[in-house]
Amino acid sequence: MTDLLWHLLTQPPGAPGSARARYAAAMALHGAGALTWRELEAYREATAFDAQDPACVLQDRGLRPPVARPLAAAALLALLLAEIDRYLATRAGPGIAEVRGALAPAFQAAIRPGTNPPNLVAETCLPAALAALERDDPALARAIAAAAPHLGWTGYDAYDPSAIGPVFPRSHAFGSLVGAAAPVAARDFDLGLFLIAPRVLYRDHAHAAPELYVPLTGPHRWRFAPGAAFRERPAHGPVWNPPHRPHAIVTGDVPFLAIFAWTRDVEAPAYVIPAPDWAAYEA
Ligand SMILES: [Fe+2]
Repeated sequence: MTDLLWHLLTQPPGAPGSARARYAAAMALHGAGALTWRELEAYREATAFDAQDPACVLQDRGLRPPVARPLAAAALLALLLAEIDRYLATRAGPGIAEVRGALAPAFQAAIRPGTNPPNLVAETCLPAALAALERDDPALARAIAAAAPHLGWTGYDAYDPSAIGPVFPRSHAFGSLVGAAAPVAARDFDLGLFLIAPRVLYRDHAHAAPELYVPLTGPHRWRFAPGAAFRERPAHGPVWNPPHRPHAIVTGDVPFLAIFAWTRDVEAPAYVIPAPDWAAYEA
C-alpha cells in the first residue's frame, strides 16, 4: 500500500483530479509517519491546480522532492483496473452499467500477473494509440502504458481462417485484464484492451456474448449490417452489441484502441458473417 501511495505522489502533474489524488496520498503518508508536516503543507499548497508541480513548491521551501518508485506488476494491473472503472463511470449508454456491475467483484480478486510473450501489433500500435489518448485522458493513457507489459497480448484465434481473411489475424491483438485466464480471475466475464492497426477491415462478425466496446481512439468507421455503408464514430463513444448482432469496423489513421468487455457466454466463439464488399475495403 505504501508503494502505491508513493507512486500516486510522484505521478506527473496535469491530469484532471491528479492534484487531489496527490494530496490524498500525501495525507495518508503523513499519517503513516512517512512525510513531515512541512512536506504535507507543500502538497496542500499544490492541491489547487492539477498542473502545479509539487516538486517546485517543495524546492521553494528548501525541501527535497521524492523520487519515483517503480510499482510491482500486480499493483500496476490494479491501478489499470481502477482507471478503467473510473473512465467507464464517465461514459453513458447501454452496457456501461452492466459492465461496471460485472466488474465490481474484480476489485476483491487476487491479481496474478502472467507471462508476457512479445506481440508485434502491441509493440507497433500501442505507442501511437496512447499518444492520441494522452490528449484526452492522460491518467488512463499512463495507466495503460504502465500495465501493458503485463497484459499478455495475443490474437483472437477462434475464427475460421478462410472466413476472417489474411489481414485481420496479423493486424490485431487483445490484452486481457479480467477473465478466466487473465491476471484478474472472473467466471464468464472478460474485460481488457483491444488493438487493431490503422486502415484495417475487421470483417462482419457476431457472437453470443453481449459486448461493450469503448474506443479510446478515433474516429473509426462501423456498421451493424453486412454490406451496409460504414459510418464514422468518434473516440469515447460506447458501442453495445447485443447477442448475435452483426458488426464490422474499418479503422482510421490512428490505431484502434478500445476497452472491450464480454458480459456472459464468453466461451461461445465469434463467427464471421459473409458480406459482398470486403474486397473494396481490403484493397
Ligand atoms: Fe465483437
